Amino acid sequence: SPLHDFLQGLPKCEHHAHLEGCLSPELFFQLAERNGVPLPDPEANPAYASVATLKERYKNFTSLDDFLVFFFQGMTVLQHEQDFTDLAWTYFQRAHRDGVHHAEVFFDPEVHRERGIPYETIVDGFSKGCRRAERELGLTTRLIMCFVRHLPVSSAEKVYDEFISARHFEAGVVHGLGCSSTEIGPPKDMYRELYAAAAERGIPLTAHVGEVGDPTYISAALELGVQRIDHGIRLVDDPELMRRVAREGILLTLCPLSNVLLRCVPSLEHVPVRRFLEAGVKFSINSDDPAYVGAYILDNYCAVQEAHRLSVAEWCVIAENSVRGSWIGDSRKAELL
Ligand code: ADE
Ligand code: ZN
Repeated sequence: SPLHDFLQGLPKCEHHAHLEGCLSPELFFQLAERNGVPLPDPEANPAYASVATLKERYKNFTSLDDFLVFFFQGMTVLQHEQDFTDLAWTYFQRAHRDGVHHAEVFFDPEVHRERGIPYETIVDGFSKGCRRAERELGLTTRLIMCFVRHLPVSSAEKVYDEFISARHFEAGVVHGLGCSSTEIGPPKDMYRELYAAAAERGIPLTAHVGEVGDPTYISAALELGVQRIDHGIRLVDDPELMRRVAREGILLTLCPLSNVLLRCVPSLEHVPVRRFLEAGVKFSINSDDPAYVGAYILDNYCAVQEAHRLSVAEWCVIAENSVRGSWIGDSRKAELL
């Protein structure tokens, strides 16, 4: 796009990338081999025949829940601390090339723990990748632990207890809590107690809502004390709630190309970027699951520009809101502005 060089050079903050969503088909097959993890039976699931067939399948997700099956299958090849470090490091290098100066990344410890990987292995592995990015790339990072809504609350309680016992928030190892996975079905307030306990400790909170769910999922998350909303595109269906989100300065972490690929919207034009700008709703633009979507953050910036033709001034508003909405101290914000 004509603004590609400008968008590349714009100092970006990413707030919505799942580290497990950075597992490419190539790395999936490599790690499966290296770790002796059995692949799904290609008879039953022909997508897993080869890198090429898996890549092709990733172009044809039919819904969020269809995607999630592949996303959780992908994770099974992550076994050792080094696997988690390698995955994070690979992402940070790419983000750095895309002009990202600060990255806040999600991970799903419950899912790894459920298949026998200790909490410490997961967090130590990912946080080593974060520290290397800080040291070698000058990228600041934040790890956000996500609860997954397809597992029972008791599973979330277990990782929360491990996180508290390890004092990982106080130590600056894990900086916030979120929730993700399937949206429609589980109770909207399933993490009420956990979010209240975390809020009491001053832990920043976010939630994946309004990706496919109606605005009542967004208001339920706000009621649980989130300071940020992941996706939240369905906010446009409730103008009153949209005014509230604008007034309270809640940041939406939008993932435009993910929304198209997972068929949450029919096309990029339906990601309500302009409506949010006009309503004064703050948002950042992010990649979500770049290795599954086949697009990283700069691809998302460029695609939004192609579809919505924003002005340089509008891009500066987006970039500035991304810095201000980051979970970093004022001195780092000042460096990024
Ligand atoms: N986990 C990873 N990507 C997700 C998405 N787009 N929505 C919900 N949960 C997710
Ligand atoms: Zn996400």
